[in-house]
Amino acid sequence: GKVQILPGPATRVWRYTARVVKGDPDAVIPIPDTYLGPILKFRKGQRVRITLHNRLPAKFITHWHGMHVPFEADGHPSYAIDPEETYVYEFTVENRAGTYWYHPHTNMVTGAQAYSGLAGLILVEDDEENEVPLPRGEYDLPLVLQDRTFDETNQLLYDRRGPIAMLGFLGEKILVNGHPDFTLNVASRSYRFRVLNGSNSRIYKLAWSDGDSITVIGTDGGLLERPVTRPYLMIGPGERYELWRDFSKSKGKEVRLESQEYHGIMPPLYERFRRSGGSMMGMGGMMGGGMGRGGRMGSMGQRGGMGGMMGTQTISGPEGMMGTIGPMMLMARHIPQGSHFTIARFRVTEKPRTLDNQELPAKLRPLPQLSLDDVVNPDKPRPIAIGNHGRQFTLNGQAFSMTGALPIETFPVNTIHLMEIFHEHGGMEMEGEHGGESEHGSRQSMQGMGGGMSMAMMMAMVHPIHLHGHYFQIVRRTPPEAGGMHGSSEGYETVKDGLVDEGYQDTVLAMAGERIQLIKPFDKYKGLFLYHCHNLEHEDGEMMRNFKVV
Ligand code: C2O
Ligand code: CU
Ligand code: CU
Repeated sequence: GKVQILPGPATRVWRYTARVVKGDPDAVIPIPDTYLGPILKFRKGQRVRITLHNRLPAKFITHWHGMHVPFEADGHPSYAIDPEETYVYEFTVENRAGTYWYHPHTNMVTGAQAYSGLAGLILVEDDEENEVPLPRGEYDLPLVLQDRTFDETNQLLYDRRGPIAMLGFLGEKILVNGHPDFTLNVASRSYRFRVLNGSNSRIYKLAWSDGDSITVIGTDGGLLERPVTRPYLMIGPGERYELWRDFSKSKGKEVRLESQEYHGIMPPLYERFRRSGGSMMGMGGMMGGGMGRGGRMGSMGQRGGMGGMMGTQTISGPEGMMGTIGPMMLMARHIPQGSHFTIARFRVTEKPRTLDNQELPAKLRPLPQLSLDDVVNPDKPRPIAIGNHGRQFTLNGQAFSMTGALPIETFPVNTIHLMEIFHEHGGMEMEGEHGGESEHGSRQSMQGMGGGMSMAMMMAMVHPIHLHGHYFQIVRRTPPEAGGMHGSSEGYETVKDGLVDEGYQDTVLAMAGERIQLIKPFDKYKGLFLYHCHNLEHEDGEMMRNFKVV
């Protein structure tokens, strides 16, 4: 369909539409004037049946992100359907009340399909949450953060080749709930904001322009036990955070939700480009080697070369979305990762219709904790190793295979495991090969983002790691070592105060060089459950694997 996003020509998008066949007619709430799918409302304990009808000219499957559902209802890419086919999902809503979402999970084109407009929110409610005195109705608002790049006729541009395969797609416009320059007139009272980072690869460092701290009341798996405050909040692709914000002292003012500057969690060369203000000059320098390579890559692509990856990709999206500008020019137009920009403007101009649930509750709701006493492997965490094959990132040393799972990826059903996310090649081996800032290291980097990637550059990336199935809880984070291989311990200082590990999560930002231990239940359902990087360009590369629950 077509949607008016920018002034001028409407934008061709792909999008979800939905209607209730049987049951509560308010279970599907369309959002007007946007490509975003309608909000789906589920109740805990409810039996849900959804028929997906694929009206796209491409293979397609949908995943209910964060929902704990049987294998057959999880939207595994092996269940992708052809145009005009249907797929029936059936599951019981087991999740706590919270903010979840749905999006495509088609093999190798999840990024392109999600980018084309296919995404929507799921709100789960339950009795216990209904008793928590939080802002409701018009004072409980979703904020879906995405970034997009448009051509001269306002059509979406997308590509995942060259440097984008490694950095992820970064757009030149920030959209909130599908709108650029998002501005909202709000009342002088408190609000509950459900923030979803629905971007392909952008990581936001959320902060209020008036210096108010960020009050977090919920995470991926719903409300926290009690609110926590942070000077700023890091939110990676796929993650949800619920914020509470009081505008009562901001009468007549404009308060902006911003993304603040951070650094050190991207490859060094990219950092240099970003700090130079993202100018074309900087870009030219950075892409020096890359441009040439880009050209060659194009022709290799046509021959189906490039390790079978670049050449054989099919991008599914509205006609014209690929555009003609190519990955290097597309890169040159983005808002740099980690730079400072405005996300949304709130004008505190309205009178509150009610002051109900205006105070921040000191206690939200109980949050049963998973502990190391519950796990079957307290001394031997199962690995989630971030590594790479050339310029493609991998997990546990493997590329994605539709049905493959290693023994370390196999779990008996109804067990709880300790898992550890870490970066491979972390030790001596690296030191010898690409000694940090050595001449050799920088020369190698100068080959450009589209060309040979030095190991050090690969290691300096941050990955939002997402695990399907039941939520998990983080029990330990080990920060990157000072002076380590990641060039990131200094950069870590600019992000570390924005991490929230208190709640249930299904996605976690693994900062460069960091080790993260988490506890995860493999409950109830046997089958294949994905784990992957939610940087969608990484996911569509090789950074996805199966857990096999037996
Ligand atoms: Cu939100 Cu496997 O994805
Ligand atoms: Cu998911
Ligand atoms: Cu990644």
